[in-house]
Amino acid sequence: MASKPEKKTPAVPKGGTTRELPLVALRETVIFPEMIVPLQVGREKSVAALNAAVASGGPIALVTQRQADQEDITSPSELYTVGTLAKIAQIVQLQDGTVRAIVQGQGRLRVHGFTQTSPYIQATIEELVDATPSGVEVQALMRSVQGQIEQYVANGAPVPPEAAVAARNITEPGLLADMVAYSPDMSTEQRQEMLETVDVIERLKLVSNFLARQIEILELKGRIQSEVKSEMDKTQREYILREQLKAIQRELGEDDPQQAEINELREKVEQAGMPEDIRVRAIKEIDRMSRIPSASPEVGVIRTYVDWLVGLPWNVATSDNLDIKEAARILNEDHYGLEKIKERILEYLAVRVLADKIRSPILAFVGPPGVGKTSLGKSVARAMGRKFVRMSLGGIHDEAEIRGHRRTYIGALPGRVIQNIKTAGSNNPVFMLDEVDKIGMDFRGDPSSALLEVLDPEQNNTFQDNYLEVPFDLSKVLFIATANLLDPIPPALRDRMEIVQLPGYTQQEKIEIGKRFLIPKQMENHGLTPRTIEITDEAMVELVQAYTKEAGVRNLEREIANIMRKVARTVVEGRKRKTVVDLKKLELFLGPPRWEYGELEATDQTGSATGLVVTEVGGDVVAVEVTKMEGKEDFILTGQLGDVMRESARAALSWIRSNASSLGIAREQFEKNTLHIHVPAGGIPKDGPSAGVTMATAMVSAFTGIPVRKDVAMTGEITLRGRVLPIGGLKSKILAAHLAGAKIVILPRKNEKDLRDIPDEIRKQIKLVLADSMEQVLEAALRRMPAPLRAEPAKIVEGDRPLGEPEPEGRVRRSSFPPTDQPPVAVQGETPKRNRSSLRIRIEKPEPQRG
Ligand SMILES: Nc1ncnc2c1ncn2[C@@H]1O[C@H](COP(=O)(O)OP(=O)(O)OP(=O)(O)O)[C@@H](O)[C@H]1O
Ligand SMILES: [Mg+2]
Repeated sequence: MASKPEKKTPAVPKGGTTRELPLVALRETVIFPEMIVPLQVGREKSVAALNAAVASGGPIALVTQRQADQEDITSPSELYTVGTLAKIAQIVQLQDGTVRAIVQGQGRLRVHGFTQTSPYIQATIEELVDATPSGVEVQALMRSVQGQIEQYVANGAPVPPEAAVAARNITEPGLLADMVAYSPDMSTEQRQEMLETVDVIERLKLVSNFLARQIEILELKGRIQSEVKSEMDKTQREYILREQLKAIQRELGEDDPQQAEINELREKVEQAGMPEDIRVRAIKEIDRMSRIPSASPEVGVIRTYVDWLVGLPWNVATSDNLDIKEAARILNEDHYGLEKIKERILEYLAVRVLADKIRSPILAFVGPPGVGKTSLGKSVARAMGRKFVRMSLGGIHDEAEIRGHRRTYIGALPGRVIQNIKTAGSNNPVFMLDEVDKIGMDFRGDPSSALLEVLDPEQNNTFQDNYLEVPFDLSKVLFIATANLLDPIPPALRDRMEIVQLPGYTQQEKIEIGKRFLIPKQMENHGLTPRTIEITDEAMVELVQAYTKEAGVRNLEREIANIMRKVARTVVEGRKRKTVVDLKKLELFLGPPRWEYGELEATDQTGSATGLVVTEVGGDVVAVEVTKMEGKEDFILTGQLGDVMRESARAALSWIRSNASSLGIAREQFEKNTLHIHVPAGGIPKDGPSAGVTMATAMVSAFTGIPVRKDVAMTGEITLRGRVLPIGGLKSKILAAHLAGAKIVILPRKNEKDLRDIPDEIRKQIKLVLADSMEQVLEAALRRMPAPLRAEPAKIVEGDRPLGEPEPEGRVRRSSFPPTDQPPVAVQGETPKRNRSSLRIRIEKPEPQRG
């Protein structure tokens, strides 16, 4: 430690006398007059000095050594020259040989020399007395120092706050200055300098400098701190204010609204009767909520979430109506016909009666618009006594619509499945998934895969909604999907559903539905009664045949409503008598008939054949047209045909080319001709293999010039070898053929089993040719067979015979061309002779070829 140069201050000797005193050297401590301090003394010499002083009853000299780390002091030069004269107030000898003393400073002293250094230092000292001046300068200095002390304390000096008051009460200027030496901010050197400064005015100036500097440091420190603090304060402040607000509200007896809400939510959860794991989950969320400030948006998120958990019917189920008779009555009350479907539903109910825990089947109602898919679903719910909910999948592209968004998304909600379950309010509703065939798929994910989880009985007892995060059991839900077409339904989905076809109604069925259901329903809707309106049977037939063209009954219902409106108006206008709607009135109300039936060709055509298709609105007939013209290409296809249809056209042509000779077609025909195949209406895209035989027939007709019978419609897929493969949608197709006025329908033999679905009234009027091969198709379709062609006899189902009965001998006629090895029977001039006597298909004289 660097020693300070001794300050040359005029020492005012106390009476100029010196005396000898035991001396203790201090390390890093300066003791001032009037200070009472404990001293821990360890060095032998110091202990001896203390003891000597105590023994003599006199004071002791306390002088700070220049080098704090020096052990043994042997010369006065090793000490500062000015020290303190002190009284020993108390002394305690400790076990380890050290001594603790309490000393009280009494005055300043100057060391003149040592008279002994052992066993303790005995020094010659001279007492110094403060030169205490009086006058304004001292007074001013004192005030200034007192003010500084106050400021020093106020700025956070490390001294007790009473110090400022004590300073004010001191009148002695020297004492005031010495008092500042108590400040821990002062260094040993600074203290020593103050001790050595006997001139009080000088000492006060020293103190004043010291304080000024300290105040500045403290202010700077304060500024830095407050800057840091203000940053922290912003967040702290809000928290503290909120806590205070809570406290105030508590004081005022007002409840904390968030707490009240939390209590309410807790109550709800406890009373909801949810499964234990869900309850625990909800309570956990509520606990989390109570730890968040109420202004945080997270609170709302948690509240909504818990509300969802509480609102779901975890354990709520309606009890099924197990009275089968009653259920049957309700089903029949709502819908005409549809026997197969009604039976399926009643069977399900019957099993429910016997076995409580059966898996709900997933039914899919597939059929054209307006055949009653949606309304049947409602009726099923009514018959079973279950709730009914409906969710349209048309145009859903986003998986999240079905399965919900994760809660991390703003405004996230559960998917529509869970939303609908909540709406239903029970966990076993009849849940209708309308229009599954219209479900979309794009970058937002594949909704059908989410649907899979909903519909798969293996998975749907733990259906995971992204929002809910906890699984919901959908296994008791009776899902019913509806679709217009089967093909667009993703195969994985189709696999899990029990397909129930509603192919459309016959005219007779439509008339019945109209009379029994639609008319009474619309009468009621329009406030009419049987006393104000009647629709005659003829008008009803006309309505079905000439004013609507559809597989279902939606337009029929609309037209009936149309009539009701017109009649309602006449009633309101004062008409008293009943309005009887007959054919004349019908035309008056609805205008001239809109549709003509019998869209088959009016005459036999060459190069055109009538095919049967299934569209979204049910079955329909289409004419496949073929012309041959000069050109090098194989063929041109028009009419928006899909790939499958193009390929089957190619297969048809290949079959014709490979059988050219037996078809009587000259080779060069293929080389110089191009076929143009067109399927109207050109604006509607078409696809599928079932037009294969129709295209082949039209092509053969075009090449050979043999006309196609006008009253034949056909369907079937063709193979390269001319086999006829089965097709779908048979009932719709036959209904359409019947409506169009076909007398003969050619269909694949393999579809025979589907004929059971065809209503008797239609089978009575149509002859069905069940073909295995293209030869059989041509046999039935063409006015005459091409010269060399032979066909195995096709199975023919006569119009008036109900299906399923044993085939009575002679009723099912077989075309009885003789086997190829037998000489053919020529009927026409250029055709080989054939035995036509037993042929069911009447071979007529062909009309002259046109064009
Ligand atoms: N067999 C029937 N008996 C009585 N009413 C019927 C029958 N079939 C259909 N309806 C009535 O026809 C109307 C249309 O039926 P619905 O809306 O259920 O058709 P949909 O098959 O769902 O058609 P879409 O495919 O266009 O949705 C309803 O008013 C329904 O009550
Ligand atoms: Mg519908």
